[in-house]
Amino acid sequence: MFTSTNPSDTNEVIATVPEATAAEILTVLRTAKNAQKGWAKLPAPTRGRIIANVGRLVESNKEALAKLITKEMGKVYSEALGEVQEVVDTCDFFLGEGRRLYGQTVPSEMQNKNLFTFRMPVGNVFVITAGNFPTAVPSWYIVPALLCGNSVVWKPSEFTPAVANALTAIFHAGGVPKDILTTVVADGGQTFAALESGLKEGVINKVGFTGSTEVGRKIGAKAGEYIQSACLELGGKNPMVVMQDANIDLALDGALFAGFGTAGQRCTSLGTLWIHESIYDSVLAKFVALVENAAVGDPFKDVLFGPMISQKYLDNHLSHLKMVQSHHKVLGSTSTGRITAANPRKGFVGDPDKGVFAHPVIVAGITKNDELYSTETFGPLVTVGKFSTLDEAIDLANGHGYGLSSAIYTNDPQNVWRFREGISAGMVSINNSTSGAEAHLPFGGNGLSGNGSRQSGIWVLDQFTRWQSMNWDWSNKLQKAQMDLIEIKHDPNFVLKI
Ligand code: UN1
Repeated sequence: MFTSTNPSDTNEVIATVPEATAAEILTVLRTAKNAQKGWAKLPAPTRGRIIANVGRLVESNKEALAKLITKEMGKVYSEALGEVQEVVDTCDFFLGEGRRLYGQTVPSEMQNKNLFTFRMPVGNVFVITAGNFPTAVPSWYIVPALLCGNSVVWKPSEFTPAVANALTAIFHAGGVPKDILTTVVADGGQTFAALESGLKEGVINKVGFTGSTEVGRKIGAKAGEYIQSACLELGGKNPMVVMQDANIDLALDGALFAGFGTAGQRCTSLGTLWIHESIYDSVLAKFVALVENAAVGDPFKDVLFGPMISQKYLDNHLSHLKMVQSHHKVLGSTSTGRITAANPRKGFVGDPDKGVFAHPVIVAGITKNDELYSTETFGPLVTVGKFSTLDEAIDLANGHGYGLSSAIYTNDPQNVWRFREGISAGMVSINNSTSGAEAHLPFGGNGLSGNGSRQSGIWVLDQFTRWQSMNWDWSNKLQKAQMDLIEIKHDPNFVLKI
């Protein structure tokens, strides 16, 4: 049994759910695989109407779902409402795709012959997601996968089973058959074992995974053994570059939200704030003042951030504090580590001893050789460093090998275009924070952040469908491509004489 608790008050149990074994997950995978062909036979516009129902139900249950997210996962309520809205937006986008899902007509090189393309569903999709976005990120997989005619088995985070079951119930209420979307809660070991047997047996035809680079590497390798490429959305160490000419207050609003919103537990959270050396001291001082004065605590109140997702995430954050070196300056709060009555935070909202709250931390003076430069910290910890030229900033922004999100603050279009061209990240923000991507642009990363797969918008269709090409020769004779060429009469020596 898995028991999820409220990270703001760890004595409060939110849900106790059965824990699936690898054998049980495999049974579910087989059932889903069997059901998929029938689902694919439903016309895509009909599947689109089902997605429309789901979107409307998520919308009408928005507050209830957001409250549950805040209780089980700990993000502030306004962010939880935003997350649920992202599910609605995803449904709104894909309900229309049901009436498109276009293939193409393509001219043939021969007469009396026509060429076409069709999008075919991949089959059964195994989706494995993290606890930080317990509804929005799963919906990026589930909604397009279903719309394209696939079945889905979803393994959510063991820290958010109540939210996962609530979202699944909404899908079913909207008209998705139970065998077409099944949710199983399991630990990492059982999930991986089921993944391996499911791939071997052919009852998993696509894997979608959002989580750490370390786990994504294993999942991607396993899928590769079975000649599949997983859709991987992994970690980030997202840079934000502040040029001399930037609107500093705007940049710092962005840094505060990207660095500490969701307690820094977004894959798009700010990793390192790179400040031009000429303004470094003054911008850092302003940032420190903002962080020192930010409200932390009860996520149902008006605070910058609430608790960590769970003790595990707090422990991970504490382990990163050990990477701080003597040349660094630790700023942003009166202390570091867990916030308690004995280790208090000024202006804390609520009772810190009840939950897993952490002090916000700024680690200033970061350099390329530091462990913290290349470590995704996934907590309320922002590193800050300086640069002298834009080329150096781009080099620092790329140098760790992650490439998910990035941002530059500048009013000079030359800087904008040079940064966009030089940055290796999949997503670039101009005068905006690294987090908060809209739900219909390609979302995904390069290098350690992902294998080039993209979610959201029309681009994710390539994850959940395969192109089938068809040629139809109605000439009633064998016409040989590349061989039966139509002769073209022309004069290759023609020169214009004027
Ligand atoms: C994630 O943290 O896995 O862009 C996704 C954002 C959100 C999604 C984050 N819309 O910050």
